[in-house]
Amino acid sequence: MTQKISISRKMIFFTISAFVICFSIGAGESCTKIKENLHYSCMGRNLNSIPPSIPSSVQTLDFSYNVIKHLQKSAFPILSFLRVLDLSRCHIKHIENDAFYNVKNLTTLILTGNPVTYFGPGCLNSLHNLQRLDLVDVGLVSLPLQMNNLTRLQELRVGTNNIQSVSLPPFMSSFKDFSLLDLHANNISTIKTDHTVVLRKIGRNMTLILSRNPLLYIEPGAFKDVHLRQLDIRSAFVSFAAQKVGLKALYGLNVERLMFGKYRDDFRFQFSDTDFLDGFCSINFTEVYYYIMESPTKFISSFRCMINATKIVVMGGLIDETEHVLFHELKELYLISSHLGSLPGKQLSHLHTLEKLIITHNNGPICDEAFIDMPMLKYMDLSSNQIKLKRCCATLLSGTPQIRYLNLSLNAEIDLDVVSFVGLDSLEILDFHHTKILRIGYLSVLSNLKYLRYLDVSYSSIIFTNIYCFYGLSSLNVLKMAGNNFRGDVVRYLFNNLTVLEHLDLSYCHVVEVHSSSFKNLQRLRLLNLRGNSLIAIDFLTHSNLKQLTSFYVDKNSITSIPLDVLQKLPTNLSEFDLSSNPIDCSCSQTDFIFWIIQNQNILKQPENIFCQSFSLSSDFRAADFDIDSCVHKKRLTIVLSICFVILVVVLSVLVYRFQFYLQYCCILLRGYRSPAQQECSYDAFVIFSSYDEVWVMNELMENLENGVPPINLCLHMRDFQAGKSIASNIIDEGIMGSRKVIVVVSQHFIDSAWCRFEFELAQSRFMMERNANIIIIILEDVEERKTKKVFGLHKHLKKNTYLKWSRDPLSNMRFWIRLRRAIIDTKQ
Ligand SMILES: *[C@@H]1O[C@H](CO)[C@@H](O)[C@H](O)[C@H]1NC(C)=O
Ligand SMILES: *[C@@H]1O[C@H](CO)[C@@H](O)[C@H](O)[C@H]1NC(C)=O
Ligand SMILES: *[C@@H]1O[C@H](CO)[C@@H](O)[C@H](O)[C@H]1NC(C)=O
Ligand SMILES: *[C@@H]1O[C@H](CO)[C@@H](O)[C@H](O)[C@H]1NC(C)=O
Ligand SMILES: *[C@@H]1O[C@H](CO)[C@@H](O)[C@H](O)[C@H]1NC(C)=O
Ligand SMILES: *[C@@H]1O[C@H](CO)[C@@H](O)[C@H](O)[C@H]1NC(C)=O
Ligand SMILES: *[C@@H]1O[C@H](CO)[C@@H](O)[C@H](O)[C@H]1NC(C)=O
Repeated sequence: MTQKISISRKMIFFTISAFVICFSIGAGESCTKIKENLHYSCMGRNLNSIPPSIPSSVQTLDFSYNVIKHLQKSAFPILSFLRVLDLSRCHIKHIENDAFYNVKNLTTLILTGNPVTYFGPGCLNSLHNLQRLDLVDVGLVSLPLQMNNLTRLQELRVGTNNIQSVSLPPFMSSFKDFSLLDLHANNISTIKTDHTVVLRKIGRNMTLILSRNPLLYIEPGAFKDVHLRQLDIRSAFVSFAAQKVGLKALYGLNVERLMFGKYRDDFRFQFSDTDFLDGFCSINFTEVYYYIMESPTKFISSFRCMINATKIVVMGGLIDETEHVLFHELKELYLISSHLGSLPGKQLSHLHTLEKLIITHNNGPICDEAFIDMPMLKYMDLSSNQIKLKRCCATLLSGTPQIRYLNLSLNAEIDLDVVSFVGLDSLEILDFHHTKILRIGYLSVLSNLKYLRYLDVSYSSIIFTNIYCFYGLSSLNVLKMAGNNFRGDVVRYLFNNLTVLEHLDLSYCHVVEVHSSSFKNLQRLRLLNLRGNSLIAIDFLTHSNLKQLTSFYVDKNSITSIPLDVLQKLPTNLSEFDLSSNPIDCSCSQTDFIFWIIQNQNILKQPENIFCQSFSLSSDFRAADFDIDSCVHKKRLTIVLSICFVILVVVLSVLVYRFQFYLQYCCILLRGYRSPAQQECSYDAFVIFSSYDEVWVMNELMENLENGVPPINLCLHMRDFQAGKSIASNIIDEGIMGSRKVIVVVSQHFIDSAWCRFEFELAQSRFMMERNANIIIIILEDVEERKTKKVFGLHKHLKKNTYLKWSRDPLSNMRFWIRLRRAIIDTKQ
C-alpha cells in the first residue's frame, strides 16, 4: 500500500518534472555560463523555473530577477550539489513547505526583495547545511521562523523588514557558528532584558547590526554581560535624547568594535548636550567607529569615554578643536573628513601608545603644531588635506624614532631643506605625490634615509638639477617620479647609486633621450616606466645592464621604429613590453620590426593599440595587420624594374653609339632645319664616293662636270670640307644641306664603306619628302644585287628610279655625261 503511494508520487513527480522540462526547453540557452558545470547566471531572464540546460552538477546559481510567484518543489530539478542559490526579486509570494526539497544541500540562500506573504512553516528547515540566509526586504514581521534544524547557520540577514524585536528563538543558542545578525532598517523600538537572553548565550563572536531602527527605549542592563564582536548602532535611535539615554542603558556591554553615529541623509536631531556620549564610559569596547554628520556649535568631549580604546575612527563632522585626552591604549587614530581647523599636534603629542595616525580629507588645516614625543608612531598618513607646510618634516615630527611610513601626498605645498629628515632615519615609505615639493630637486635632502624603500614624488612640480638628489638612498626599491622635469643631462647620473632599485617610474617627464649609461647600476631593475615621454629610440636598453627587467613601458612616445639589433638584445626576462600609442612607421623598410611585433604579441602589452603612423584621418590601422607579403612583392618588383632599367640604359647607349651620326643629324635638324628650297645652296651636287674611287671622281667626274659648260660646282669632301669641323658636321652642313643634289658613286668599295653608307642614308632622309630625283646614282661597277641590299634603301632606290651606269665605251660615255649633266641641271633654274 505505502509502496503504491510512493510509486504514484514518483510518477506525479516525474510527470511534473517532464512537463516543466518540456515547458522551459530553450530557455536554458539564455543562462550565462560563468564556470563550466559549476556556476551559472540566469539573472533577469523572465524564467519561471530552472531551465533543464543547467547541469545537475551546478554549485552556484544566480536566478535573481525572474518570475516565480509560487515557489514549490517542482521549481527545481534535483540539484544535489547546489550550494549557493540567489532568488532575489523573483516576485515570490508563496513559499511551499517542500519548496527547497530538491536543493537540500544549499549553504547560501538569498531571498532578498520578494513580497512573501506565506512561508510554509517548515520550508527552511530542510536545509540542514544552510550557513547564510538572506531574507532582506521580504515583509517579515517577526524572527521566529521554523529553523531549528539550521544548526550550521552563521549569518542571518533580515534587514529592511518590519521586525519589532531583537529577540531570538531559544533554539538558536545552540547554533555554535552563528556570527551575524543583521537587523538594519526594521521597526525595533524597544529592547528589553528578556530580548537579549539568547544573544547573551550565543557566544562572543557575533556581529549585531541595529542601524536605522527607531530605537526609543533600551531597558538599562539589557546588554549587561553580552559579549559581541561588533555592534552597529548607526542611526539606530529615534531621537537625540533617546540616543543619550539609550547609550547609558548599554552599560555592561562588552564589544570589540562599536560603530555609531549618523547616516548622511539623517538630519533628524540637533545638538543640545555636550555630554551625550557619556554612555560610552560604561561600555567595554576596544575599537570605535564614529560617523559624525552633525556640526557642533560648541566644544564636545567626544573622546572622554574612549580613553581605553585601541582604535578610534572618526569620519565626518566638524572638529574645530580636539581635546587633550590621555588615551591609555590608543594605537590607531583616524580623523577623516573632519573639517579639522588645525592639525592636532599638541593634543596628540606625548601619546606613547599611538602607532598609526591617519588624518585625511580635511580642508587645509593649519599646521603650526608639531607631533612630539610619540615613540611608537610608525605610520602617519596626512594625505589629501591641502596642507601647506613650511619646513617639513623634522619640525612636524620630532621624537618619533620609529616612524616608517609618511604619506604627505595630495597636499598643497611642502618646503624641504637639508635638515628635513633629521631624526626620521627609520623612514621606509615616503609619499609626496601630487604635492608641490620645494627644493628637493637641487638639495640632497634625503641622504640620511638609508632604509627608505619606497619614494613617490610623482607630479610634485620638481625640476631635478642636482645629480645627488637621491644620494644615500641605498635601500630604495621603488621610485616613482612621474610628471616632473630634468635640467640638462641629470637623468644620466641621477640613479647611479640606487643599486637595489626594482621599480622606476619616469613617465610623463619630458624625457627626449636616455643616455646608455643612465641605468648602468640598476641591475635589479624589474620595471621601467617611460610612458608619455618624447623618446624616439630605446637603444639605451641594450647597453645598460638591465638583466632583471621584466616590464618596460614606452607607450605614448615618438618611436617610429626599433632596429633589429636592438630588438635582438632586449633583456631576456622581458615579459611585458608596452609599445602602444607610438607613431609606428609601417613601411616596407621596417618589415623586420613589424614582423617582430607580429611575432611577439605575447610580451607586448596592449598589442591592439600599436597603430601605424598615418597621414590620413583614419589613424586606426594596427601594425600587426600590416601586410609584410606585399613588401616582398614590392621588393621583387623593384629588382625586376631596376634590371629592366639597366638593360634599357645599356641598349640605349649601344644604340646611341651606333647611331651617333644620325643623332647629331637630328640635332642639327632640330637646331634649325630650313627646307632646301629656301636654303642658299653653295654647291650644285655633293658627291658621295669611296676614297678608292677617288681617281675616277677626280679624273672623270670633276673633269667633265666642273670644266664643262655650264660648269657644275661639285662638293667633294677632300677638297671642300672645312678643316677643324667634324666629318659628320661637314657631311651634313657642307655636303647634304649645302648642295642641291647628291651624286652617289656606287661601287664595290662604296658598299663596303660605312661612311658612304652613312652619307647615303643621310641623303635619303633629307630628300625623303621631295619627289624629284635629287639623288643621282651612278653605277661605277657592277655590284651583286645581294650586296646592294646591305646599304639601306639602295636596292629599293635602284629598282624604283633610273640610274646612270658608267661605261668606258666612248659612245655610251658621251651619253652618260649628257644625261648626268641634265639630271644635275634639271631644276637648277
Ligand atoms: C549533499 O552533499 C554531500 C557532500 O557534501 C553529498 O554526499 C550528499 O549526497 C548531498 N546530499 C544531497 C541530498 O544531495
Ligand atoms: C528537522 O530535523 C529533524 C531531526 O533531524 C527531522 O526529524 C525533521 O524532519 C527535520 N525537519 C524538516 C522540516 O526537515
Ligand atoms: C512599527 O511598530 C510600531 C509599534 O511598535 C507600530 O505602531 C508601527 O505601525 C510599526 N510601523 C510599521 C511601518 O510597521
Ligand atoms: C568569528 O566570526 C567571523 C565571521 O564573522 C569568522 O570569520 C571567525 O572565524 C569567527 N571567529 C571565531 C573565533 O569563531
Ligand atoms: C573588557 O573586555 C575585555 C575583553 O573584551 C576584558 O578583558 C576586560 O576585562 C573587560 N573590562 C571590563 C571593565 O569589563
Ligand atoms: C578604562 O579602563 C580602566 C581599567 O582598565 C577603568 O577603570 C576605567 O573606568 C576605564 N575608563 C573608561 C572611560 O572606560
Ligand atoms: C598615500 O595616500 C594616498 C591617498 O590616500 C594613497 O592613494 C596612496 O596609496 C598612499 N601611499 C602609500 C604609499 O600608501
